[in-house]
Amino acid sequence: MNLNPLQPKESSPPAVSALRDTLGRPLRDLRISVTDRCNFRCVYCMPKEVFGKDYAFLERKALLTFEEITRLARVFHRLGIEKIRLTGGEPLVRRNLEQLIGMLSQIRGLDLTLTTNGSSLAKKAQSLKAAGLQRITVSLDALDDPTFMRMNDVDFPVGKVLEGIDAAAAAGLRPVKVNMVVKRGLNEASILPMARFFRGRGHVLRFIEYMDVGATNGWRMDDVVTAREIVEMIDAEMPLEPADSHYRGEVAERWRYRDGSGEIGVIASVTQAFCRDCTRARISTEGKLYTCLFATSGHDLRSLLREGAGDAEIESAIRAIWGARSDRYSEVRTSQTVEVKKIEMSYIGG
Ligand code: GTP
Ligand code: 5AD
Ligand code: SF4
Ligand code: SF4
Repeated sequence: MNLNPLQPKESSPPAVSALRDTLGRPLRDLRISVTDRCNFRCVYCMPKEVFGKDYAFLERKALLTFEEITRLARVFHRLGIEKIRLTGGEPLVRRNLEQLIGMLSQIRGLDLTLTTNGSSLAKKAQSLKAAGLQRITVSLDALDDPTFMRMNDVDFPVGKVLEGIDAAAAAGLRPVKVNMVVKRGLNEASILPMARFFRGRGHVLRFIEYMDVGATNGWRMDDVVTAREIVEMIDAEMPLEPADSHYRGEVAERWRYRDGSGEIGVIASVTQAFCRDCTRARISTEGKLYTCLFATSGHDLRSLLREGAGDAEIESAIRAIWGARSDRYSEVRTSQTVEVKKIEMSYIGG
């Protein structure tokens, strides 16, 4: 169902953009955080000691409205964006998200997707698809309740996330990708059970190296189970062979089961940084533009919007910001994380 049936799809293709940052990287990928709230308290992302009852989340009026988000999305599209990923916090806790998806789906030629913890997906998969969402990525860190509950820290059961994954696939939000963050000592024993379970089911399981995002998760290099270790572990039981990337700058390195029963991905953001092909920009819930996941500050686009700037002015502000970009945090990180106040993953959405 098109939520805006009377509004035709945009007819003009995006202008070919020569926009490049200082390292020659184009702007292709926009990740928009629609809320800083989440119903989980994953220990590596929103630890309860920090994100407790008294934590001050953003007020409603601070959030970009759906109209503001869509306006920015159109400007970014003219600058060459090919994909929009909605993130959070947990994006499905934002009320009427389907309405926003309906608005964004009017922008022609966009890959429109979303990353969710899957907790309300069983209920929402159909309406998300109907609104115009094309595919979906679900985070799931373990296949047994004790481990998963220790990670989400709100006693949320695995079964409900699996129901959400099934509902998404049934609704046509394919391929469903499943993201598992691996933290040593916490869920590395779930690597093989997860691989066995998802193999042959048509979903793409991706293992993510635990990163030092934000300032609250107490990251240490020792906590990282490397992509290499993960591939070797799976390959020993279920032989793998490398597969080509789908596109330049794809964050996941693809591996296929030799018996044809599917594929996995590993995201080696710590041990094999992929900054040199990083074409991602991020917009926070209250409209700040970040040019790196590890940035310490963003550029306020909301003020521009609310002070009445025209599209051309917003476009030239974004051009200037992207043109000056030189971020490559993961390539220069050492085994020590830096001690400056980085933004939190729950705020910028991964
Ligand atoms: P596809 O379009 O499905 O290929 O999505 P994707 O892999 O680009 O996006 P997804 O949100 O699934 O990314 C998976 C994880 O990779 C994120 O949750 C982050 O942990 C990590 N990641 C994604 N982008 C970046 C990035 O720009 N820098 C770093 N360091 N990590 C990233
Ligand atoms: N390291 C790697 N990935 C992380 N995510 C959240 N925190 C981290 C971290 N410290 C992932 C989640 C989800 C996405 C939003 O980001 O698991 O897949
Ligand atoms: Fe919520 Fe995702 Fe962070 Fe977990 S990782 S607390 S589900 S935003
Ligand atoms: Fe891009 Fe920054 Fe991640 Fe490097 S660390 S890949 S520059 S977001």
